[in-house]
Amino acid sequence: MAILSAAFDSKVRGTMTKDVWEAVDKYFDEMLIPHDPTLDDALAACAAANLPAIQVSSVQGKLLHLLARIMGARNILEIGTLGGYSTIWMARALPEGGRIITLEADPKHADVARKNFARAGVENKIELRLGKALETLPKVVADGRGPFDMFFIDANKSNMPEYFEWSLKLARTGSVIIADNVVREGAVLDGKSNDADIQGIRRFLEMVGKEKRVSGTALQTVSSKNYDGFALVLVTS
Ligand code: SAH
Ligand code: DHB
Ligand code: MG
Repeated sequence: MAILSAAFDSKVRGTMTKDVWEAVDKYFDEMLIPHDPTLDDALAACAAANLPAIQVSSVQGKLLHLLARIMGARNILEIGTLGGYSTIWMARALPEGGRIITLEADPKHADVARKNFARAGVENKIELRLGKALETLPKVVADGRGPFDMFFIDANKSNMPEYFEWSLKLARTGSVIIADNVVREGAVLDGKSNDADIQGIRRFLEMVGKEKRVSGTALQTVSSKNYDGFALVLVTS
């Protein structure tokens, strides 16, 4: 299939292109994002602990922040914390008394994140729950938490369908679900992929399209995080 082969053609996504995406991200960052030592420190702590540098970019973090403010979100559920960079961006959008629950499976990542939250002065807004999300999500429900105004699904991609189902359980009409990494440099096109992450993303998108209780879309992005994208889903009933 022409589209599919083009998407995987390295000539289409050559290094020069990525250089430009990176440079534009840097330019946007300089123009639009005030210098912020707290976020710089959080990223430095992630790097010092050798965490994978797969957090959202600064402009993406600010998009999450602005969406939370636009919605007036008071309760947010994040699946996939890493070092807490995206969490801090969202925590800073919360009004007094607002809360984020963030779920992380890796104790080392959780440890870095907790220190970053304390350093950023947002630890009283954030509850980090350690464990595989499919094991900790039932407890979030059992604890009577929710409904959440906003969800950020950004953990392992193979379980995106389950994370979407749990989000729906914990949502109300008007909640917004954002899911990261739905393009993976075009690999999402490959329906025959043996990669469980790709299958998870594809199944998730199929569910969003078919689910009567939501209305969703997806956007491709190029950035310092390469060629990827996110889905934005509104819970309508
Ligand atoms: N949201 C973060 C990036 C998250 S990276 C940011 O933008 O700053 C994905 C994270 O999900 C990693 O820290 C990884 O350890 C975690 N993860 C992977 N599988 C998981 C699972 N089953 N349950 C919870 N977290 C998981
Ligand atoms: C990767 C990137 C992400 O943003 C993420 O949430 C998980 C993995 C990656 O590039 O491998
Ligand atoms: Mg991501």
